[in-house]
Amino acid sequence: TTGDGGAPRGTDFEAVAPNTEDAVVVPAGYEQAVVIRWGDAVLPDAPAFDFANQTGAAQAKQFGFNNDFAGLLPVEGTPNTYLLVVNHEYSTEPFMFTGYDAENPTPEQFAVGIASHGLSVVQVRGDGGRLVPEFGPNNRRITADTEFVVTGPAAGSDLLRTGADPTGTRVLGTLNNCSGGVTPWGTVLSGEENFNQYFANAESVTDERAAKRLSRYGIEGAASERKWERFDPRFDIAQEPNEPHRFGWVVEVDPWDPSSTPIKHTALGRFKHEAATIHVTDDGTVVAYSGDDERFDYMYKFVSSRKMDTGAGASAMRHNLTLLDAGTLYVAKLSGNSESEIDGSGTVPSDGAFDGTGEWLPILRTGEDGRGESLVDGMSAEEVAVFTRFAGDAVGATKMDRPEDFEPNPRTGKLYVALTNNTNRGADGKAAPDEANPRKNNKNGQVLELVDDHAGTSFTWNLLLVCGDPATADTYFGGFDKDAVSPISCPDNLAFDPHGNLWISTDGNALDSNDGLFSVVLDGPNRGETKQFLTVPKGAETCGPIVTEDRVIVCVQHPGELDDASADAPGSHWPDGGDSQPRPAVVVSWKPGATIGA
Ligand code: FEO
Ligand code: CA
Ligand code: CA
Ligand code: CA
Repeated sequence: TTGDGGAPRGTDFEAVAPNTEDAVVVPAGYEQAVVIRWGDAVLPDAPAFDFANQTGAAQAKQFGFNNDFAGLLPVEGTPNTYLLVVNHEYSTEPFMFTGYDAENPTPEQFAVGIASHGLSVVQVRGDGGRLVPEFGPNNRRITADTEFVVTGPAAGSDLLRTGADPTGTRVLGTLNNCSGGVTPWGTVLSGEENFNQYFANAESVTDERAAKRLSRYGIEGAASERKWERFDPRFDIAQEPNEPHRFGWVVEVDPWDPSSTPIKHTALGRFKHEAATIHVTDDGTVVAYSGDDERFDYMYKFVSSRKMDTGAGASAMRHNLTLLDAGTLYVAKLSGNSESEIDGSGTVPSDGAFDGTGEWLPILRTGEDGRGESLVDGMSAEEVAVFTRFAGDAVGATKMDRPEDFEPNPRTGKLYVALTNNTNRGADGKAAPDEANPRKNNKNGQVLELVDDHAGTSFTWNLLLVCGDPATADTYFGGFDKDAVSPISCPDNLAFDPHGNLWISTDGNALDSNDGLFSVVLDGPNRGETKQFLTVPKGAETCGPIVTEDRVIVCVQHPGELDDASADAPGSHWPDGGDSQPRPAVVVSWKPGATIGA
């Protein structure tokens, strides 16, 4: 099916050209508006945002910093009204406070930093194309200080016990929540990603095994970047060696109950979870996919032994909140099928495709009683759960080019994985290019298409896109005419529109343009046709895309985050303009009188 202009349905818009504007640029004929920005009220008693006089208490009631994932859940029985659930990945203090002294942060700056993390739940109402925030009954801020309950095989483990929590089951806060997913049972999953950066004094650890564990997770050095260890000893490994084990999980939030305690699900393993996204098979089996966003790290899936309860009541929700607490965790191993050598140049192999087969290697089984069984020699179940990367190493999983979002196509069940980049691929002492990660010094990334035997252990795969400048030989756009596509670099977040097209947002564009959002046709003669729908302001990454019939929603994260910028000399004045401070914000775009891409 095609839109009026002949382009495949949902992708009929005039592509936005690469640019370095300090603005969100949308196609001709489209409108845009900010939905909510850093500091806007989430709770009714939030004070007005005052950039020069911030407090932790105010920030804990306001929209947090650096929005990444966004989910939009319709409020049943209230037309045109939704819960917008957003992750706040990290704080960037030099951009948040004028005159910030990185060597001497103040207690109030620490309090603001803690409160600027986590998630926001905000009711929004449609007003034409706009989405307007409201003070709904479910509005909520979750911060780096909100209590979470730990479930699964690592709950109560010695590895999770601290002075403040001798039970090893209650954690304060969530950190570095990157991407996520809305579950079919109405909750939101969020990935704790680069949690390593919050912990100080790893170098004081002398035990060799403990030091190796820290290092494998990138926890290194003396003082942390934000110096939070000066204000709360749990961020000091010399005082609380187990606190880092309490982060790096998939968390689940029930946005429909603002008094609910969010969950950290340890059966899904601990790594730099970009996100987690769910596919439910025809027989109700729940499968959660998750990438570990690090150069040369792995792709995982968790197959629940429990079936989803499709009822709508409280008892169905209670059951469904346990779906990720029993089942089997797997890590992916990929094999290419081409006989010609993968030489690192990105040249398509002689058989015409970067493709092959794969298997899911089981590493951890969690029983109905919540107990874990290790499937890896030499590791206990608790160790596989907490130090999952070592389990992947032990079984010989495939080292990928930074696995970011995994997204199941709701129409076909095929999976898509954004592999964002890996400039160390093929470097001395590092893994060589392979068919799924085919380029040395990979600056632009690729997108993997995977046909999975969801509840089973085998799959086939191919590269849908090998990203970059289409004018160069080392790129591939699903076989589509490279003269008729937009340049794309560093794919990060993935979403589907109602027509089955894939949408990709980017982070770190290596082609001298701002980051953006792209549509990609998957089926028919236009497979691989890639078009830029919008670009975000200077220094920002594009996150959290949601594409509905009527709206495109993106999170604009860290506008102005350029190398030489700071709050005193901002690299951007978006969204408020003039000489204002840049503020991360959620943006909606729409086409008056028409649907998206038609
Ligand atoms: Fe926070 Fe993997 O991006
Ligand atoms: Ca091949
Ligand atoms: Ca990301
Ligand atoms: Ca990223």
